[in-house]
Amino acid sequence: MPKGLFHALSRLTRIPVRIFVRPNRRINAAMWDTQYALGLWNYLDGMSDGTVPLSLIESWAPRPTILDLGCGTSANLPLTPGRYRHYHGVDISRKAIAQARALDRPDTSFEVADIRHFRSTDRYDAILLREVIYYLSETESVALLRRLPELLTPRGRIVVQVYDVSQTEDFVRLIRSCGLPLVAELPTRLGDGPAGALFVLAAPSQATNPSPGELTGEAARS
Ligand SMILES: C[S@@+](CC[C@H](N)C(=O)[O-])C[C@H]1O[C@@H](n2cnc3c(N)ncnc32)[C@H](O)[C@@H]1O
Repeated sequence: MPKGLFHALSRLTRIPVRIFVRPNRRINAAMWDTQYALGLWNYLDGMSDGTVPLSLIESWAPRPTILDLGCGTSANLPLTPGRYRHYHGVDISRKAIAQARALDRPDTSFEVADIRHFRSTDRYDAILLREVIYYLSETESVALLRRLPELLTPRGRIVVQVYDVSQTEDFVRLIRSCGLPLVAELPTRLGDGPAGALFVLAAPSQATNPSPGELTGEAARS
């Protein structure tokens, strides 16, 4: 299906999907599985520009451990072997996770789970929410953001990515005001898409001053 038509259809179905489908974990998972089975998200796989670069995470945590919530197939996330200690991807869609596992990248693990209820005893240097926060309700998003600091290492940070700041205004407002210190807000762009942003959040207990060389536009691009 052409990308434009898909986006028009998804705009039309947004409200009923939000009200009737998303609150139910099983129906929500089935809906995402269907979309992955139809290949509707294949176009994302080659779009590594505009997504979170490893160099950004390295600016606060060399050889980081990474948790990617709503990871999809994870194919578009640049992961250079040897530059990260471990990557764990979580997604509600079994189909997406099967595709992610098939990539067979070193030092990775995957899990099928609903991020609204995700719990772990592990701690991470970076927790990524790439193009997923606006699929939750506003209440769920705030609850998730406020819970994530307990999964961070002392040097850890949270990165929230949205591909279109103007279409996700409510969520952008919510990210900025969720109560976690906003360390940086970096412009980004997915392919030839609209203006997006990466929001870097710290745990409330962390100092928010960026370390030297951290969070520059250079780190965000390379
Ligand atoms: C637009 S895709 C983005 C995928 C990937 N993060 C990326 O940026 O390429 C949204 C992803 O979020 C996942 N997702 C949506 N709601 C979720 C939930 N409640 N729990 C876990 N994953 C969810 C979907 O299955 C899908 O893979």
